[in-house]
Amino acid sequence: MAENIFNRMAKKYDNEQRIELANTVAAEVRKHLPADSNKTLIDYGCGTGLIGLQFTDYFKQLIFSDISEGMMEVVSEKIEAGNVKNAETRATDELDNNEADVIIVSLVMLHVPE
Ligand SMILES: C[S@@+](CC[C@H](N)C(=O)[O-])C[C@H]1O[C@@H](n2cnc3c(N)ncnc32)[C@H](O)[C@@H]1O
Repeated sequence: MAENIFNRMAKKYDNEQRIELANTVAAEVRKHLPADSNKTLIDYGCGTGLIGLQFTDYFKQLIFSDISEGMMEVVSEKIEAGNVKNAETRATDELDNNEADVIIVSLVMLHVPE
């Protein structure tokens, strides 16, 4: 259910209100970044990447994952447009804790029944 909704929303997900909220979340995340930036970040349920894409200059590697292929298309377009070389995308609901040093999960868990 969530997948279909977000596939449909993906192209018009970014709006002023969501961008402002993402900026607030990112500012809070920034206060808690590891001192060593030679790390991997996963933005799980990343949507259009509004939060994780703010950290491409900080982390060695970034993984943007989301169950919605529509969202993955949008974030992939942003990665390509920004010529971001240290980011990859995964259309999945799998999360391997061992792969990441930092995991961002913003506004996702309410959509995960289990
Ligand atoms: C409200 S959006 C939040 C997007 C982004 N994290 C943000 O804060 O801007 C929720 C996202 O969670 C994703 N999602 C929902 N269930 C998921 C699951 N089981 N695994 C991964 N992503 C999921 C949706 O596809 C959607 O992109």
